Amino acid sequence: MQVKTIGVVGAGQMGNGIAQVAAMSGLAVIMSDIKEEFVQRGFQTITKILGKNVEKGKMSPADQDAVLGRIKTTVNLKDMAAAEVVIEAATENEPLKFQIFRELDAICAPQAILASNTSSIPIGRIAAQTKRPDQVIGMHFMNPVPVMQLVELIRALTTSDETFALTRDLCVKFGKTPAEASDYPGFLINRILMPMINEAVYCLYQGVGTRENIDTVMRLGANHPMGPLALADLIGLDTCLAIMETLFSGFCDSKYRPCPLLRKYVEAGWLGRKTGRGFYEYR
Ligand code: CAA
Repeated sequence: MQVKTIGVVGAGQMGNGIAQVAAMSGLAVIMSDIKEEFVQRGFQTITKILGKNVEKGKMSPADQDAVLGRIKTTVNLKDMAAAEVVIEAATENEPLKFQIFRELDAICAPQAILASNTSSIPIGRIAAQTKRPDQVIGMHFMNPVPVMQLVELIRALTTSDETFALTRDLCVKFGKTPAEASDYPGFLINRILMPMINEAVYCLYQGVGTRENIDTVMRLGANHPMGPLALADLIGLDTCLAIMETLFSGFCDSKYRPCPLLRKYVEAGWLGRKTGRGFYEYR
């Protein structure tokens, strides 16, 4: 199957990033969301990021126009019928994702591949919502999508070799590096990354260090580009908590228990950059 058009469901932080890299790779993109203001906001984010690339001389204005011209926005999921591959990047909510996959299964061509950008929901559970479980796969992009190299590819038990190969080639076309993970809680990246972030929150909770010192030791002592608390603010503390809950319940192992302080921040609505306050304050 030749892929010419990519569908992206969800125009938020992850969705608009995926739409951008897909359009930059030369493919036509259909980006959807439930409200016109959401798709417009997503499109504006892409326009802003490409505009910065033009200012830096990394892209010509003509290329910017061409990339933007390849992205069509919609609030009608039925428009995904034109895509050979649809990547779902909606809110991390299991019933919502199940519903989207059931609808996509009815809308899309029989040979179309349906991918999910979920960071924690088992791909097998999503695949089981469709009549094409062999054509469902996890395509987990990292935040910020245009910058981060990795796409974690998660195979459900039912995912076919053809689906995996096509998706892997697509990641390469996007300029990304795919890494395969099995369908177990947290897959690979979050199984490793989230306990580190959670441990950093425990260090803050127990007064082992200040937020600045916790981040400094990991930045300067382990060469991480940003400290774990600043990274939690970038990812979203609600997302971090949800992933820890997935690990905790999925493995029934107390080593994954979420830090009470993380829960307290989430309950206070201190979710990180997106709400202006997390472990740090943002204007
Ligand atoms: N969108 C697009 N481009 C962005 C961006 C964004 N949101 N944020 C930064 N950039 C670009 C900048 O424009 C800049 O580009 P140039 O090199 O062309 O100038 C480049 O990235 C570097 O940015 P800055 O100079 O502003 O800042 P920095 O060097 O500190 O890098 C960072 C910022 C890329 C976020 C870096 O700190 C970093 O890599 N942090 C770690 C991020 C990370 O670990 N992400 C994975 C999270 S886990 C996940 O996403 C999975 C999950 O399921 C939770």
